[in-house]
Amino acid sequence: MRIDVLSIFPEYLQPLNLSLIGKAVTDGVLHLAVTDPRDFTTDRHRTVDDTPYGGGAGMVMKPEPWTLALESVVRAGGDAAASSCARTAPEAPETAVPAVVTNPAQTTEPGAATSSLTVGKHSAAPVLVVPSPAGEVFTQRIAYELAAEEHLIFACGRYEGIDERFIDNARTEVRVRPLSLGDYVLNGGEVAVLAMVEAVTRLIPGVIGNPESLAEESHTGGLLEYPVYTKPAVWRERAVPEILLSGHHGRIERWRRDQQLSRTAQRRPDMILALDPAQLDRADLAV
Ligand code: ADE
Repeated sequence: MRIDVLSIFPEYLQPLNLSLIGKAVTDGVLHLAVTDPRDFTTDRHRTVDDTPYGGGAGMVMKPEPWTLALESVVRAGGDAAASSCARTAPEAPETAVPAVVTNPAQTTEPGAATSSLTVGKHSAAPVLVVPSPAGEVFTQRIAYELAAEEHLIFACGRYEGIDERFIDNARTEVRVRPLSLGDYVLNGGEVAVLAMVEAVTRLIPGVIGNPESLAEESHTGGLLEYPVYTKPAVWRERAVPEILLSGHHGRIERWRRDQQLSRTAQRRPDMILALDPAQLDRADLAV
């Protein structure tokens, strides 16, 4: 996968060089680059923003430098895809091409975007994610959808956002997804991008060491995780729940499931209401 981030504060994206994402880049699983729209200005002050038409507080990002920056990364992604095709085409067998990323937990949610959960060998237009509090709320389902893409571009607006014509014009070249991290306002898109890129890239095969942990997460079936404990068995007079020391796998599984149900009911009643009744067993209904 290729990820490009457009930001006038590239230093904000430095943490992407760390930990598992940094390793994925070093290993060649992920290509990640940050592009500064300021590099596409032509005036002495390298101006990227201006006052809003119609009045109001704050500044609006100008469409031209953002569009030139976007066009440059779309081109770079296209060139890279073309040259890798040219290199691999002669010997690549039909079955070796698709990287498959699926979310077994939620594939048929009503209102789910229509994009396929598999990546084929035919390259699609890049997806331009525009982080904004006015976007659709970013969820694990969307993370899976984005993880199946070949090229993601994130445009980190600042201040009052980017001139809407940048987005309208971008639709001629890319698929646009305005996404919000949640119902609160950040100073700009960079922090949202850090969260979204981490949520997406950890789903790409080869990025996290133990893919089993992903399978476990995605099989939680719309419930919050159960509480976990480690040694010592008693710590500051607090004992680990006895059932976990019993060695009785069936009962431990039931206990964990009950914890998930009661925790979800308490913290996220909306998730309980959204549960598919077909996924509940008789014992669940007793909780
Ligand atoms: N930019 C500002 N606030 C945001 C939010 N809540 N989500 C995504 N991007 C943002």
